[in-house]
Amino acid sequence: MTRRLEVDTSEAQVEGRAASIEIRHVNHRFGANVVAVSDASLKINAGEFVSIVGPSGCGKTTILNLIAGLIDQQDGQIAVAGTSPKAGRADVAYMLARDCLFPWRTAIDNVMLGGEFRGVPAIRRRERAQELLKHVGLAGFENHYPKALSHGMRQRVALARTFSLESPVLLMDEPFGALDAQTKMQLEDVLLDLWSEERRTVLFITHDLAEAVMLSDRVVVMSARPGRILVDIPISLPRPRSVRALQKDPAFHAIYAQVWSWLEQALGVPQTLAEEVTQ
Ligand SMILES: Nc1ncnc2c1ncn2[C@@H]1O[C@H](COP(=O)(O)OP(=O)(O)OP(=O)(O)O)[C@@H](O)[C@H]1O
Ligand SMILES: [Mg+2]
Repeated sequence: MTRRLEVDTSEAQVEGRAASIEIRHVNHRFGANVVAVSDASLKINAGEFVSIVGPSGCGKTTILNLIAGLIDQQDGQIAVAGTSPKAGRADVAYMLARDCLFPWRTAIDNVMLGGEFRGVPAIRRRERAQELLKHVGLAGFENHYPKALSHGMRQRVALARTFSLESPVLLMDEPFGALDAQTKMQLEDVLLDLWSEERRTVLFITHDLAEAVMLSDRVVVMSARPGRILVDIPISLPRPRSVRALQKDPAFHAIYAQVWSWLEQALGVPQTLAEEVTQ
């Protein structure tokens, strides 16, 4: 699972597979009283991995849904690969904490779906799906139906399917939020590997600050509702990264503490508790 490949980050390569996301002065209300997002501006360059963290209810999913075109934009500008958001675009994949697999399809058939959408020939689709299932640690489980897989295994299939779509933009809303700590760490490493091999533009939402720091090029911290972007912090840890190795890396812990102090402001954690957490 620790396979590392040379990454071609030449502009042409990245341009071909990835696309930028830009939101400018976006506001969003639900009904008369709930301001979910307030004047949010954020640019994610092609091939960048950016995470958003912030208190529950601060508007993270709303921002993702606006970018995905799942809810209608009310104010401001949003561009995905230079065009307006639209639900069901082939160049945008969305992954959630729930696996959303088709129960009537086997693991491999679920993963092959990505290629089906893109009209890839069946042999090539199967090869790629097999390769991806192997990568997520599910070799030998190709013909299992979702009901015969554990939650962690289903989420592995969902990750493989997300990559089989070959969409240059990945929107991920707490994809590992409901997993046990060990499975989560394994899947974070798989995600880092897959992303290094095939640079996509990733907007990743999580409540786990360590996860955000380990995976991302930048971590964006949002305030409590009405959700505003408080700060956008570059994560200077070198790549390729390994989530396991970072656990013991003092550089990671130093950056984590720095980002935590921003999140602490957003969460409004009492100072005494905050001091204990950072020690
Ligand atoms: N469809 C909706 N109708 C009405 N209010 C909504 C709707 N979706 C979200 N909201 C409200 O908008 C605010 C932001 O919700 P959102 O789901 O974006 O938060 P979040 O940051 O993703 O929270 P969490 O971390 O708990 O997932 C919340 O107050 C929520 O109640
Ligand atoms: Mg949410």
